[in-house]
Amino acid sequence: EKGNYRHFMQKEIFEQPTVVAQTLGSYLRRSDNSVALPQFDFDLSSVKRITIVACGTSFYAGMVAKYWFEQFARVPVDIDVASEFRYREPVLEKGGLALFISQSGETADTLAALRHCKENGQTIGVIVNVPTSSMAREADLLLPTHAGPEIGVASTKAFTCQLAVMAALAAHMAVKKGLMSRAEEQEVVTHLLEAPACLNAALDHDEDIASMAHLIAPARDVLYLGRGPDFPLALEGALKLKEISYIHAEGYASGEMKHGPIALIDDEVPVIVLAPSGPLFEKTVSNMEEVRARGGQIVLISDAEGLEHAGEGCLATIEMPRVHPLIAPLVYAIPVQLLAYHVACVKGTDVDQPRNLAKSVTVE
Ligand code: F6R
Repeated sequence: EKGNYRHFMQKEIFEQPTVVAQTLGSYLRRSDNSVALPQFDFDLSSVKRITIVACGTSFYAGMVAKYWFEQFARVPVDIDVASEFRYREPVLEKGGLALFISQSGETADTLAALRHCKENGQTIGVIVNVPTSSMAREADLLLPTHAGPEIGVASTKAFTCQLAVMAALAAHMAVKKGLMSRAEEQEVVTHLLEAPACLNAALDHDEDIASMAHLIAPARDVLYLGRGPDFPLALEGALKLKEISYIHAEGYASGEMKHGPIALIDDEVPVIVLAPSGPLFEKTVSNMEEVRARGGQIVLISDAEGLEHAGEGCLATIEMPRVHPLIAPLVYAIPVQLLAYHVACVKGTDVDQPRNLAKSVTVE
């Protein structure tokens, strides 16, 4: 039931403040601002290496989480797309933690990778949205997302809920390892609990995004740039755009532009730059200037301060609330989802059922 929405995808984008709050609610304790994970008989403080395996949008959630596991818990993370993982003969030391991320819990490649890890002595953590799925049944540590049924083929709310779960898990692991003080834990939890309101504030810009979609719709190619934990968001933005609007799009780490993709830049290639204020802002802006100097048409997504500093001369700007860097990947998911959605609407494609795609990919 789409209610007042035109498409399931649109409805699911707008559900994110609610479902992220629901998901956070089952991993964070508001009474004392602490992380409270489900009980399992597995010692998170003993984890020496994490292997993350997933596909598509869930893989990009894993890429964001890698920054968090390494930054907070100081655990090295290996991450692969599931279809590559088993065939590269990964080295799996006994006692390692392998995390599988999936909306459906049925993706064949991810499930096969899970079984491979199980046979090789890994503890199996599963972040999954369908609690009755095959992956959920095979988990040692089951970490459900509470996004509710996701009907649109393009994943949206499952992604932000996956991020919410993994931010909590990374903080919890850091606490267990003695790397995060009580005060730091409270600070992280406070920032995470701010996410739903910030997602709402991001959604307030829906109409601005709708009204600029016609600028992107005629493009043949679009580039997305981001840095640090927002780099996977650039990949996610490009995936969303290509799957529902059929425009060729690529995501790049901002600093990688000059190593090749800058050759593509001319005034017909819109470049979407994800640049929240924060420690990486200046670097991203200087990459943006390299694009601009070659006639590139920039759509800058940043907060008021960032737009004031670097918004001049852009093809368009999209304003986001000012957020803590930890929750920026959740908040910046909204404009990339909405941009893809509105561009697809301008083009008149079948948003909820894009050609050649299935909601759950159960073949390898
Ligand atoms: C993108 C999309 C796909 C899925 C991928 C994994 O919008 O929906 O890339 O993310 O097929 O699916 P799950 O998460 O069900 O394993």
